[in-house]
Amino acid sequence: MRPAGIDRAALLSAALLAVSMACGAPAQAGANNAGVARCGSRKVAAIGRGCRDLLRAEARFLRNGDGAARAARIAAVGGRLTAEWSRAEAAAADARCAARSADADAAAARLTAAVSAATAAVPGSVECRRALVGLWAPLCRSAVASERAALRGAASAAPAHLRARIAARWPAPGCAGGPDAAAASRTILRLAAGAAADATTRGLRALGADIGVAVGAAIEPDEVASDVDYTSALAHDIDSLTAENVMKWGVVHPQPATWNFGPADAVVARAEAAGQRVRGHTLNWGALQLPGYVSAATTAGELRAHMAEPIAGLVGRYAGRVAQWDVVNEPLPGFLEAPTPDGLDDNIFHQRLGADYIAEALYLARAADPTARLYINENGLEVPGAKQDRFFALVQALLAAGAPLDGIGFQAHLGLVPPGQYPNAATIEASLRRFADLGLDVELTEVDVTLLFVSGALPARFAVQGDDYRALGEACAAVPRCRGITTWGLNDQYSWLRPFLGATDWPLPFDEAWRRKPAYFGLRAGLLYGRLSMN
Ligand code: G3I
Repeated sequence: MRPAGIDRAALLSAALLAVSMACGAPAQAGANNAGVARCGSRKVAAIGRGCRDLLRAEARFLRNGDGAARAARIAAVGGRLTAEWSRAEAAAADARCAARSADADAAAARLTAAVSAATAAVPGSVECRRALVGLWAPLCRSAVASERAALRGAASAAPAHLRARIAARWPAPGCAGGPDAAAASRTILRLAAGAAADATTRGLRALGADIGVAVGAAIEPDEVASDVDYTSALAHDIDSLTAENVMKWGVVHPQPATWNFGPADAVVARAEAAGQRVRGHTLNWGALQLPGYVSAATTAGELRAHMAEPIAGLVGRYAGRVAQWDVVNEPLPGFLEAPTPDGLDDNIFHQRLGADYIAEALYLARAADPTARLYINENGLEVPGAKQDRFFALVQALLAAGAPLDGIGFQAHLGLVPPGQYPNAATIEASLRRFADLGLDVELTEVDVTLLFVSGALPARFAVQGDDYRALGEACAAVPRCRGITTWGLNDQYSWLRPFLGATDWPLPFDEAWRRKPAYFGLRAGLLYGRLSMN
């Protein structure tokens, strides 16, 4: 049996070489219940002031080199932030605010590190850096304030003026040959988004909706039903549901005369009750959860008849209710497997029907629901290279033949496929654009970030993972045809990677106790950056 083209044994041995597995618990996020928006708004204001003050301290330090004064300022900002957050939480009448915000000390530390990194990254003379950092100080505060306006329900104060203000005062003194206005603007927006992401109480769902990105999660209905915190996380953060397994052929139609729609119905009903979109997954997958009677088909006619059944059954049943389908999943071989001469996976469909099975499946799905958006879903596409090229050629051929294809699903199991690779935002964005430029929608459909290849103590590994989630959010936000980001699960405890690897991994935005990890705040920062960049 091939686990999605991923070789578990090879992965584990490579990871053992690369990583010392450290244990520990994630930062505690606190919990009470009251006045969420008001409390969050106060936190956002505090962090905006903190950002301004830290940048001012950096500018002064660049001018007079007084390290002691700088250190004192950093300590004062950290202390003030912690005190102001505590007051905001205490004053709130109904504070889910604490649970929805980051820990204040950790946020202060992240803000300080982000400000120092941004300052250090400015090339050019000291004079240039000083001028730039001085210019950024009020801008950071004002960019963060736009989140405060959103929390109050006011129209978000568009930060377009930030770019205008940077451009108006550009070039800064001594900056000839230094960063241009656009680069300076990107840096300050990134910094502001990270700062606001720590303080805002708005969920991923709302932030994604602001920029037309449906933030989703794959779920197993029985896991959700047995965990009340799962339901509240879905309500706050999730705008799109995918059935992790219960719409697969082996579950829905395991025997020629047996249909089992109950669990799939539960996913669709849950989504409709919560006003969430549904991504259907998956109608044709030649590798796993394929019933024995399908694999045993000996003629093309027999297999064609089988192939039509789950497509008509599922797509027809949920016509108008499932927004999009992964019609074909993983038509390419895994990274460690040999492709057929036409580059495809040598599965039963390819063997009996040739490469045309993909277009045939798309036509069947279109006939069953002309309104659903039809996708092909594949792993490892985030990284340029031979596999992406083969997939691109496949998509071009399908489009040239007029096949009804609307979108490409980028699974984005970062670190796992290809093993050990964690592409940055620019790489992911370029990969998404390559397919979007063909006139297709694109989505990140199965996001998780394994820590298998990340070494260090657990909190440090979580921080690295936070950057990866931020990269995914930023990349999707930057591509207008990127319609969604779905994580493959939501809480580490339920991740498929644990049974698959036979080891504890922490690949998702929430830890086992439903505490928000840096991954959560990273994704939130990526989405916020998208909104700040758009305005
Ligand atoms: O349903 C049986 C259950 O009755 C039995 O008690 C249990 C005992 O092991 O097994 C259950 O089935 C398992 C199923 O997950 C539900 O938990 C299968 O053995 C197991 O193979 C299956 O794994 C799923 C895998 O796809 C294969 O379908 C993973 O949960 C799921 O996360 C994974 O998802 C895939 C995407 O669909 C496609 N892209 C790759 C991704 C990760 O492999």
